[in-house]
Amino acid sequence: MLQGKKIILGITGSIAAYKAASIIRGLVKKGAEVQVVITPAGKEFITPITLSALSNHPVISEFFSNRDGSWHSHVDLGLWADAMLVAPATAASIGKMAHGIADNMLITTYLSCKAPVFVAPAMDLDMFAHPTTQQNIECLRGFGNYIIEPGEGELASHLIGKGRMEEPDRIIEVLEEFFSGQQDLQKKKILITAGPTYEKIDPVRFIGNYSSGKMGFALAEECARRGAEVTLITGPVSLSATHPNIQRINVESAEEMYQAATSHYPGTDAGILCAAVADYRPEQVSPEKIKREKEGEIQLRLVPNQDIAASLGAIKKEGQRLVGFALETIGELKNAKRKLEKKNLDYIVLNSLQDSGAGFQVDTNKVTIIDRSEVITEYPLKGKNEVAKDIINKLATLLS
Ligand code: PMT
Repeated sequence: MLQGKKIILGITGSIAAYKAASIIRGLVKKGAEVQVVITPAGKEFITPITLSALSNHPVISEFFSNRDGSWHSHVDLGLWADAMLVAPATAASIGKMAHGIADNMLITTYLSCKAPVFVAPAMDLDMFAHPTTQQNIECLRGFGNYIIEPGEGELASHLIGKGRMEEPDRIIEVLEEFFSGQQDLQKKKILITAGPTYEKIDPVRFIGNYSSGKMGFALAEECARRGAEVTLITGPVSLSATHPNIQRINVESAEEMYQAATSHYPGTDAGILCAAVADYRPEQVSPEKIKREKEGEIQLRLVPNQDIAASLGAIKKEGQRLVGFALETIGELKNAKRKLEKKNLDYIVLNSLQDSGAGFQVDTNKVTIIDRSEVITEYPLKGKNEVAKDIINKLATLLS
């Protein structure tokens, strides 16, 4: 997949820079041409001689060559590349990329680059978790850059946490996956629901749940990456969808999600219902903030919301597909099978809050897929991106 691909490898000043040598070796072995651009701080961690020997190209760091004063054109470089990979990417460089602070060759090249850009952050856990870094990363995602999430483990500071640059083999795999262009969902239209719903009690309070939208957004990215046009109907979450093939519709309540889903589903090939929809809403929404005027109880009367999955199951056409989720805490398989039938789904993805690392908010999930022929496939705990692949592999087979 990487044969003949031209890749700019941007290296910044992190201890993980030593891993850049393995990245170059891996890319070159697979037939890619690698041009290294390194920041001045990067050179403190790995020498240009090593990098140029491995890549077979002089390493670029300055705007002008020290030898003959010739100009290194970041514009030409940006146009030359099929992809740019920044690995390791420090908090400082991520910040500069997010805000266009073009004070070195790497950032100017990034700003001139027309090709897709992959960013592999590497830093200490607190720096990674800091809202500034997180906001900058979200900003890069919002620009359409691909973030290769760091892993958890022992860091240079000997602290243990998230911030360790992804391993070179996996980084190369990400590029291969991108170029492999597994386009088995091309021309397919897919509707996905994600996140929680908020059911208003009064102007300041609501009934909601812990869904972060991570699972639904991972499904949307996976479908879009494989060529589908995705309509992502999401409740209130703080995530950004990065792929240009994702059309996002923001909703708040179950009723709004129902309206959006029922109007879009008929024009699609498949729906995947990952949202954690409130089953009930307050019968009446108080127009003013409810005051605590006297001691004692107040009563909130709840009425049922529409079951979006069951409604789509009822209007599903021949050849159209519908995938649901079941979030359970007890009687998992029995409940999931009941929902599969009742909502007329093609298969259901069961996740249980009994499994640690599964369900709400976390970056991982552990799922079991149950289909109409009662074939039950259990998967181990994986990152939500990987779980999304498993779920979409099954959908792609059904749609093919
Ligand atoms: O968002 P994250 O933090 O990443 O968490 C992911 C998740 C736990 C929310 C996700 O993996 C998940 O399990 N989503 C479904 C949660 C849920 O509401 O499950 P349920 O068993 O209550 O509902 C069964 C199915 O019916 C679901 O497909 C649900 O979207 C759908 N439903 C439920 C109620 C309703 N009124 N309308 C619906 O469409």
